Parts: sequence; C-alpha cells; structure tokens
Amino acid sequence: MKITIFNGSPRAERGNTHFMVTEFAKGAQEAGAEVENIFLAGKEIKPCNACYACWMETPGECTTQDDMEGLFQKVISSDVLGFATPLYVDNVSGLMKNFMDRLIPLADPHFARDENGESRHPRKYDKPNQIIVISSCGFPEQSHFQVLRVLFRRMARNFSAKLAAEIYRGGGGILQSHDPSFQPYLESYKQLLQTAGKEVVLNSNLSEDTMAQLEKPLIPMPNFVDEYRKRANKMFDERLAKLDR
Ligand SMILES: Cc1cc2nc3c(=O)[nH]c(=O)nc-3n(C[C@H](O)[C@H](O)[C@H](O)COP(=O)(O)O)c2cc1C
Repeated sequence: MKITIFNGSPRAERGNTHFMVTEFAKGAQEAGAEVENIFLAGKEIKPCNACYACWMETPGECTTQDDMEGLFQKVISSDVLGFATPLYVDNVSGLMKNFMDRLIPLADPHFARDENGESRHPRKYDKPNQIIVISSCGFPEQSHFQVLRVLFRRMARNFSAKLAAEIYRGGGGILQSHDPSFQPYLESYKQLLQTAGKEVVLNSNLSEDTMAQLEKPLIPMPNFVDEYRKRANKMFDERLAKLDR
C-alpha cells in the first residue's frame, strides 16, 4: 500500500501537524505501507485558473506549468491520499486549498447521479481510493474541527473515495512542549497515532476505540481547557511585554 501525505503547513517540518504525521507514518510503515510525506510549502502551486483545459482540451491533465505536474503523478499512483493541514480560520490552510482545487483533473467532467441522487463527477483514475486527514489547531477544543469534518466527508464523496481516517488535534501548542509533566501524555498520544497508522494499513479504517481516544483531551487533567487558556495568555503577555513599542 502506498500512502502519500501532503502537508499544507507553512511551518512544514517544524509544525505541530508534522509531529502528528510523523507518528502516523511510523505506524503505517510498521504495518507494511510505503509512506511519502510531501510539504506543499516548498512547492510552486498556482491557484486553479478555471480554464477547464484538464476537462475539455487535455483530459486528465492540467496545463498550468508548476510543481503540481509532479505532485499529480504522486496522487494518482497512491492508494491512500493524505491531507495534513493546520486549521486556518476554521478551515484548511491556503496552501492546502490551492492544492485541493488543483486536484480537479482527477474527475471526469460528466455529471453522474450518486447513490443518494446527488450529482457528482465520475472518477477518472483508479487511485487513490482512500483519503485520510490529519489536522492540528491552536484552540484546545475538538469542536473547532467541525468545518473540516464536513469538508473531508464531502471531499471523499466527491472523489468517490473512502474516508479511512480523520485525526484532529486541538491544543496543538502542547504537541511540541518540553514541559516534563506533559511528556508521559505526549508519549501515549504518539503511540495512539502509530496505532491509527497501523489500522489504516491493516483495516482501511480506524477502530471505534482509536477514534474515541483521538478525540479525548491531550492532557487528562480537570479544567484542561481553562488551564490551556491561562498558559497561552501568560505566554502572550510575556512576549508582548518584551516589545519596545
Ligand atoms: C492564519 C492562521 C489562522 C489560524 N486559525 C486558527 C483557527 O481558526 N482555530 C484554531 O484553533 N487555530 C488556528 N490557528 C492556529 C493553528 O491552527 C495551530 O497553531 C496549528 O497547530 C499550526 O499547525 P502547524 O504548526 O503544523 O502549522 C491559526 C494559525 C494561523 C497562522
């Protein structure tokens, strides 16, 4: 199984999202998958210019010349397409949205009727037939991912692919914390992400238990959200107090 994960964080390998991708990929590799991680931040990906050449003139191929040419080949040779993104303004990052728009050559222009009677473009390529999502955000609650939960359900539907895993993490600021009291919980979370990677490879989905664990607060302390806000505000105050203006 080939899994290609596209990461839409401008912070790339320094990012909280990459922390999650790394552990997921470890688990997936242990279960036998080949995993490739691609940072969109290092690529030239122009916005879709809506010329429709990929549908009407060079079917299946985008005529815009930039790095998307090589990336498109990576997408259609993967069994599992991974979207890894920080949450930006309740949505995917701009880098990720550009990439998603540029996937339109994956679809055939014709309007088909899906199993619910809704219109959909038929798929043009055999692969990828599974999608996974990995995302982190700054606020501590899981509720901030509500737009992404709908968006990626729709993405999977649009591409006639299975949504094999959704991995969302509020409180992303903790993931790379060096606070010794957090380390045991971060270790458990890493293990959980590795389990998720294994499950996608072995079962093409996440178990109910893994899904439930992934939604739990990162640090199982009472008033976790209040404490997280307090720490964040203290950090902002300290940083702002140092400014000479
Ligand atoms: C432009 C911008 C918009 C953001 N919007 C949100 C948001 O709507 N909700 C949220 O909880 N965090 C938001 N964040 C914080 C990031 O989602 C969070 O820091 C994330 O863990 C960053 O991941 P990364 O390190 O992989 O880039 C935003 C950050 C930026 C720079």
